[in-house]
Amino acid sequence: HEIEPPATDLITLTRHILSQQYALGERAAGDLTLLLIAIQVTSKYIASNVRKARLINLVGLAGAENVQGEDQKKLDVLSNDIMVNALRASGKVAVMVSEEIEDAIIVGGSKGTYCVVFDPLDGSSNIDAGVNVGTIFGVYKVQGSSGSVSDVLRPGNEMVAAGYTMYGSSCNLVLSTGQGVHGFTLDEALGEFILTHPDITIPDRGKIYSFNEGNSLHFYPPTNSYLDSIKYPKNGKPYSARYIGSMVADVHRTLLYGGIFGYPDDKKSKDGKLRMLYEAFPMAFLTEQAGGVATTGSQRILDVIPKNIHGRCPVFLGSKEDVEDLKKFYADYD
Ligand code: AHG
Ligand code: MN
Ligand code: MN
Ligand code: MN
Repeated sequence: HEIEPPATDLITLTRHILSQQYALGERAAGDLTLLLIAIQVTSKYIASNVRKARLINLVGLAGAENVQGEDQKKLDVLSNDIMVNALRASGKVAVMVSEEIEDAIIVGGSKGTYCVVFDPLDGSSNIDAGVNVGTIFGVYKVQGSSGSVSDVLRPGNEMVAAGYTMYGSSCNLVLSTGQGVHGFTLDEALGEFILTHPDITIPDRGKIYSFNEGNSLHFYPPTNSYLDSIKYPKNGKPYSARYIGSMVADVHRTLLYGGIFGYPDDKKSKDGKLRMLYEAFPMAFLTEQAGGVATTGSQRILDVIPKNIHGRCPVFLGSKEDVEDLKKFYADYD
């Protein structure tokens, strides 16, 4: 057995973004590169804080509520501040929307031509137990000469880039600029994200479902009938359940292994739980770019037009055949 020597031609995230910017065919593509580089720095900084949280008094509540009525964790607030400051300083951003801030942030005097929508820390209920959390982001281009909230009240199919970073056993950044989905792993010694998952494609069918089934009592009939169909299948081979409760981690596994992730609307939450702009859209964008399907049950997620910046929508995404199966239950019910 010969031992392979270490790779000597590493593709860093910066190298990857630079090599893709020309393919984007936009004169402003260099600006998108600088913006994505600013985002990767925020991910490194958030990763380092998540890792040390228990040691530097960063666990627990911050003491305030966000606009969605959730108790903010200290790491929610810190991650938000890291992103707002870095994006503002990049000079490339005109509008920001964060889960943790009620109004859209219009960056005054900015020559930036991009809007960034983000969930600074996803899965915050998992932080104090050391379970995977993440950051989710989506990027739009400003339409007019200066940015306004109307620039982000646009369907996800108009995003020019989307991605997430998962802070887990390793730190992984997964990105699409509309040319497939590519995954990077942070090499902490180098301080660089290295391409480890080129061209991620979702298997056409999986064997895993990922729903918070504790809400079954409130689910509508098509959701429960679909779940029954994979738990009591005619072929005697039921799906496995995996639900972490951090969308980033559940979607990451779905992209790599296949299967279906769902957060339905139900009798208690009429639009579901996940927020359209900075949770549903970026993840739907990545799913489609990886060859999967993302639907509300009745509509392609990326075609939904958001009415307000914190609006929610039902989410089902993953392997093409699994999500098509689910869609049939919704079609039959309507
Ligand atoms: P956030 O921590 O950013 O508020 O997001 C939480 C979301 C998402 O990460 C996850 O998929 C979902 O909430 C889990 O909700 P339940 O606890 O209701 O299952
Ligand atoms: Mn939250
Ligand atoms: Mn979230
Ligand atoms: Mn969050």
